[in-house]
Amino acid sequence: MHHLRSEIRASAAAIGPEANKGIGFPRLYDLLVLMLTRGRDRAYREALLDLAGLAPGFQLLDVGCGTGTQAISAWRRVQPGGSVVGVDVSEKMLIAARRKASRAGLEIPFYHADAADLPFEDGRFDVVTFTTVLHMVPEARRSFCLREAARVMPPGGRLLLIDYAGPVGERGHMSAKHGLHGQFDLHRLREPLAAAGFERMEGGPLNWLGLHYLRGVRV
Ligand SMILES: C[S@@+](CC[C@H](N)C(=O)[O-])C[C@H]1O[C@@H](n2cnc3c(N)ncnc32)[C@H](O)[C@@H]1O
Repeated sequence: MHHLRSEIRASAAAIGPEANKGIGFPRLYDLLVLMLTRGRDRAYREALLDLAGLAPGFQLLDVGCGTGTQAISAWRRVQPGGSVVGVDVSEKMLIAARRKASRAGLEIPFYHADAADLPFEDGRFDVVTFTTVLHMVPEARRSFCLREAARVMPPGGRLLLIDYAGPVGERGHMSAKHGLHGQFDLHRLREPLAAAGFERMEGGPLNWLGLHYLRGVRV
């Protein structure tokens, strides 16, 4: 597994120039989410977390955690005994996430890391989530992110991906149609997911922002 990890690192580094820098406007981002969910950000987060299969004692990794809203909502679901960790490529988002968690009185570690190169040991997390992250990652790097997610979970671990999907013309929400959102189709990741070591995949549309989910279990 160690060998596999260095191989993944080497390959991810080899396509390094294509690595993305993430989002650098945390306040505006939170405002946008609030506007897009019509002030129901909390209900949005809970609906997404219902799909993650969290339970007390679980170790959760939220990749591309942004300003930490979802990691903070998830924390309660893994108590007692569980923990939540967030990673993001954007320091600005991480600063906001740390501030938010500290205001909530929670000790949630938020680390600076790229989804294609996670700084965690093999099998560390029961559940890994990516919420509206993979559309931002250049296509050539996505399979590395999925392989890294598989590596940090033991067999039986669960991966939940939330992102944009379906033919653009049929997307009901305007935010699902534009820019990187419109170019991305979550369900095209089924094959790379299988190749990365996931099975029992299921997915479909959500009632939020034209988003879909796709989840699988680590073989
Ligand atoms: C649209 S935001 C979603 C944030 C959060 N998951 C949420 O639901 O509010 C996408 C986040 O992914 C981060 N991101 C983009 N590419 C990443 C990568 N390669 N590795 C880690 N984080 C990444 C961005 O910096 C940003 O915070």
